[in-house]
Amino acid sequence: MAILVRVPPRLGRQESGALRVREAVHADWRECGRICYEAFATVARGHGFPPDFPSFEAAALPIRGLIDHRRIYGVVAERDGRIQGSSFLDERSIISAIGPVSVDPTCQDEGVGRALMNAMIARAAERRAPGVRLIQVAYHNRSLCLYAKLGFDVRATFAAMHGEPFGLALPGYAVRTATSDDAPACNALCVRVHGFERAEELDEAIAAGTARVVERLGRITGYTTAISYFSHSVAETNDDLFALICAAGGFGTPGFLVPLGNAQLFRWCLAHRLRVFFLTNLMTTGIYQEPRGAYLPSVGY
Ligand SMILES: CC(C)(COP(=O)(O)OP(=O)(O)OC[C@H]1O[C@@H](n2cnc3c(N)ncnc32)[C@H](O)[C@@H]1OP(=O)(O)O)[C@@H](O)C(=O)NCCC(=O)NCCS
Repeated sequence: MAILVRVPPRLGRQESGALRVREAVHADWRECGRICYEAFATVARGHGFPPDFPSFEAAALPIRGLIDHRRIYGVVAERDGRIQGSSFLDERSIISAIGPVSVDPTCQDEGVGRALMNAMIARAAERRAPGVRLIQVAYHNRSLCLYAKLGFDVRATFAAMHGEPFGLALPGYAVRTATSDDAPACNALCVRVHGFERAEELDEAIAAGTARVVERLGRITGYTTAISYFSHSVAETNDDLFALICAAGGFGTPGFLVPLGNAQLFRWCLAHRLRVFFLTNLMTTGIYQEPRGAYLPSVGY
């Protein structure tokens, strides 16, 4: 039986014009970038952490890329003609990924984030996405609780790890730049580990020249779209992942995401002098299976 609950307006909530959520357009990128930078920086400062995005440009340029991307759906929330926040839904695989969600620090805790999230969930439902995922910074209680209330379950915790390149190679593990001929084998590996492929992200990374594969005995046993916060990697074993990480050129902050459930990988990263920047949680709705192999998630999932 459905129970209807009347929710009183929250104390301090703005009483001015109605909140409107609309699709983001190119001209929004600067304001959305400013808000994204300030939203994350304010929360990070409040917790004594360095900001996720170190500058306005570091937040705004990716936001511009998201708004302009034809396979990423973006919305802004506006009140009285003023943008108060934005959020994005990556629709490049059957699993949709939300993020970043950011609300102007001057109007957080007033329901804007919930409205943005509801727009994401509605869009995913309209497209019949079987699952929606996101990664949230674990110290941020507000996002954790908001997403949990909206039906997202915490599935895994990751350490964002950064540091110097290792300058090592693993004998017997050949790492090389991926080509489009490698895509079928990489996609098959992703299906084996996660249950679905991330072919569009891989194709983009191959076109950009950042994707790499590792081969053992002439067979592809792992791939990465890049060892970074925004990229994912999938491999048969931890050794295959080690080879991909060893071949990477450096790990700037916040770093790439290491599943804490993979204790061997976490300890190996620590032994190679990588530092933990912060912890993040994977939260999901809809279908989810425990990965069956080694992997590094992107900031989406
Ligand atoms: C996270 C963020 C998008 C949320 O937006 P917001 O407009 O501030 O949030 P809302 O007011 O819509 O919702 C917050 C909810 O969390 C609840 N909440 C906040 N702090 C809480 C706490 N410590 N414990 C329990 N619940 C809490 C509020 O009561 C509210 O729930 P309700 O909608 O059921 O009333 C926004 O705070 C932000 O931009 N943060 C910085 C950037 C960031 O971390 N983004 C998320 C990345 S994944």
